[in-house]
Amino acid sequence: MMWLITCLIGRCMAVAPFSSSLNSIKQLIEDIHDAHVSNNEGAIADYIPELTRANPDWFGIAITTVDGRQYLVGDTSIEFTIQSVSKPFIYGMALDEHGPQAVRRKIDVEPSGEAFNSISLRPTTGQPMNPMINAGAIASTGMITAASTEERFRKILDRFSQFAGKQLEIDESVYRSESETGFRNRAIGNLMRNFNILEGDVDPILEAYFMQCAILVNSQNLSVMGATLANGGLNPLTGERVMSSLAVEKVISVMSTCGMYDYSGNWAFEVGIPAKSGVGGGIVGVLPGQLSIAVFSPLLDPNFNSIRGILCFKDLSTRFGLHLFNRPSLTDYVIRRSYTLADFQSFLFRPKKAQELLQREGHRVRIFELQGDLYFGSLERLMYSYLQVFDQVERAIIDLTRIGSIDEATRKVVFRFAKEAFRKGKRIILVDPKGIFTPGERGSLVPMSFVYDACDQALEDAEENLLAQFNIRERDPRNIDLEQMDVLQGMDPAQLGALKELCEIRDYTADQVIINRGDNPDELFFLSKGIVAVNLQATAHETARQVSSFSPGMCFGEIGYLLQQTRSADVVAVSSVRVFLISRPAMVAFAREHPEGYQLILKNALSATSERLIRANRQVAALK
Ligand code: DON
Repeated sequence: MMWLITCLIGRCMAVAPFSSSLNSIKQLIEDIHDAHVSNNEGAIADYIPELTRANPDWFGIAITTVDGRQYLVGDTSIEFTIQSVSKPFIYGMALDEHGPQAVRRKIDVEPSGEAFNSISLRPTTGQPMNPMINAGAIASTGMITAASTEERFRKILDRFSQFAGKQLEIDESVYRSESETGFRNRAIGNLMRNFNILEGDVDPILEAYFMQCAILVNSQNLSVMGATLANGGLNPLTGERVMSSLAVEKVISVMSTCGMYDYSGNWAFEVGIPAKSGVGGGIVGVLPGQLSIAVFSPLLDPNFNSIRGILCFKDLSTRFGLHLFNRPSLTDYVIRRSYTLADFQSFLFRPKKAQELLQREGHRVRIFELQGDLYFGSLERLMYSYLQVFDQVERAIIDLTRIGSIDEATRKVVFRFAKEAFRKGKRIILVDPKGIFTPGERGSLVPMSFVYDACDQALEDAEENLLAQFNIRERDPRNIDLEQMDVLQGMDPAQLGALKELCEIRDYTADQVIINRGDNPDELFFLSKGIVAVNLQATAHETARQVSSFSPGMCFGEIGYLLQQTRSADVVAVSSVRVFLISRPAMVAFAREHPEGYQLILKNALSATSERLIRANRQVAALK
């Protein structure tokens, strides 16, 4: 429930136009508006008599980003009829209802190079050349399953409203005006009926088409509709999925080739933003993954495209570098960091011998920390980097924690990549806390590869695997005796025997707390069996965080003990644990009896702490 409320608040905030002290983007848009506001060339469309009510001065520019921020300049709340800008959206609806192949059989996707109301039908099949001309749009409207004009229009209005994130309405007088004069569209409809491109009664379909063209929007609404396409079908303001990403892909394709009628080639050349215009004066442009621009100005050129609209798009494209085919390479940044296990290890502190081995042999394990989106280009970049070190590396850990999105095709290639590496005697390990791979897929990768939820876990297991190759098995269920403890190395049997006498053995079960933050620091622990974790206290902003852990053979609690400071963190048993514990009075007694033995403990503890510091510095360096 709280989540829902938070989301709703977040969404509502996003609806408001973006206001900040950084106004330079808005100022640039205002400059473009100023540059064209006094251009009065062109004419208002008059073939639908009601359209002539438009004021030639109206002029608005609205931009909505895929995360819902808006920049509004000029008359962005004046409503106008959507007209042909409805075409991509109705085409998408047909695609979602019937799938691309069925729609393709009725409507081709070839630019006609002709005017919007041309009779551009394939001679033998009667297919309209594309869905962005009237013939194609009427065919799309006809593909929406409905028993009546009302039902058809209701479906259209509802879906368009979802696109806009707001309940839209129809301009009745424009609808009637077009219906009364729509002889040419009726002729096109009847021709398509002859070829069974339209089925059943033609008139109700045409009425729904006229109504759809008369839906009222303002440029702000139109930019949200476009941003929903730019966002892969997800409305950035409401978070609602309005169209499948497959339909969106096809819709934007035809917008880019046919959206501006016989001006489409020039538009692609100069502007490079897939777009659609309408005789009401609106143009919507869609930049996938970035934003949508809607410009409204009712003065049109002979192609029935808004003159100020075209000029604004040209300026915006040049000044903001928006041309789709002029994108810099984004693949350079996919690898956030790459390091080996020798540079950076898990947060599990291991005894000296194990630590030294990891240092020496850690180059066999390489970690690739990725960031951004994973798609063909960035994956290819990763593979290339991996192949550079392929021979030296036995195990590659690919950390997907910071991956924003991954497309289906790339997801499959990653999967195959992991399997292929296994066949070549290597292992690719995936870290996937976001669940990019389904439980079924994860299962099918075992034992070729493994998927972990956290990078530290993957590192820890890689270390374990490396140590096992050199016969160091820390997960040995047998208990480790005192003489094997790192900090007791060099002690003679008499000293060890005396210490053992003074120690108490304690057992803990998993999750049991061994040390509480704030406790008096009057005990020193030697870990004989199991793993213990050091957890930092939860703060107002974060839950408790594990900062390190210890494996058998290690001593813990020594820093607080020696500095005589209250415990600064919790220490918790991760598995079933056994410790040797020595209390402060017992240690004082030991120091009195065996001063050299006590000095040795201090010296070893100091060198272990120094080594941890050196390791921490190395890790910081590796992360830079
Ligand atoms: O079919 C028609 O004539 C109109 N309702 C829509 C045409 C249109 O917007 C052409 N675009 N530039």
